Amino acid sequence: MAAIRNIVILTGAGISAESGIDTFRGAGGLWENHRVEDVATPEAFKRDPDLVLRFYDMRRAAIQTREPNAAHHALARLDREWRGNLLIVTQNVDDLHERGGAERVLHMHGEHLNAWCTACDARPRWTGPLIDRPPCPVCGAPALRPDIVWFGEMPYRMEEIYDALRAADLFVSIGTSGAVYPAAGFVRNARDLDAATLELNLERSQGSSWFDESRLGPATELVPAWVDELLS
Ligand code: APR
Repeated sequence: MAAIRNIVILTGAGISAESGIDTFRGAGGLWENHRVEDVATPEAFKRDPDLVLRFYDMRRAAIQTREPNAAHHALARLDREWRGNLLIVTQNVDDLHERGGAERVLHMHGEHLNAWCTACDARPRWTGPLIDRPPCPVCGAPALRPDIVWFGEMPYRMEEIYDALRAADLFVSIGTSGAVYPAAGFVRNARDLDAATLELNLERSQGSSWFDESRLGPATELVPAWVDELLS
């Protein structure tokens, strides 16, 4: 493999699974007993805002009781020690990468610990519930929603992501099913520009065949081993 300098890492729900946060497409295809489309769309929010707010209030409370695992810590070590460019693009809306110590993290699907004011566009840090329609701390309007990119909405900071992919020598995907675009297409963007591609996942994903190499197993084993290998 040619010398590696620029790395893009895509993470998904699988990296947080061993911290006790449910993945989206686990057994039965249900998301904590709700179909994804019943809670994660703007239409669902319009139809039944209480259901959607309660659901995200529950998730927001839950993630604050979870801890980063060995995979988050290993990526944080890589972030600290890697002298080239590195970007951890996460589809996850938890803050376990940051609490594990990583800094170069981009949340393309938003963050549980932010609210978004649909009246003034502020994105205040938010750790409590939204169900009681608290006023926006900036404009006072009772117009806060979860700062989560729902199905049908545009993921955040796509230009930055594509710029990083264009410059990448290595693209690594960790714990994601490859079911949701545009993230599922990043491997092909990277390949088209001759980056090496590696997948670390519990099982074969929908995108496995696009990668140069797929390693199968739990993230808490595969990610520390891969980081050791890269830094050694
Ligand atoms: N270690 C590694 N991989 C794991 C582990 C583990 N311990 N446990 C589960 N996985 C794998 C699963 O095999 C699966 O391929 O992680 C993947 C999780 O897939 P999804 O549940 O589909 O999660 P993700 O790919 O992050 O979903 C993408 O879908 O609903 C939307 O916006 C939401 O960001 C989310 C997006």
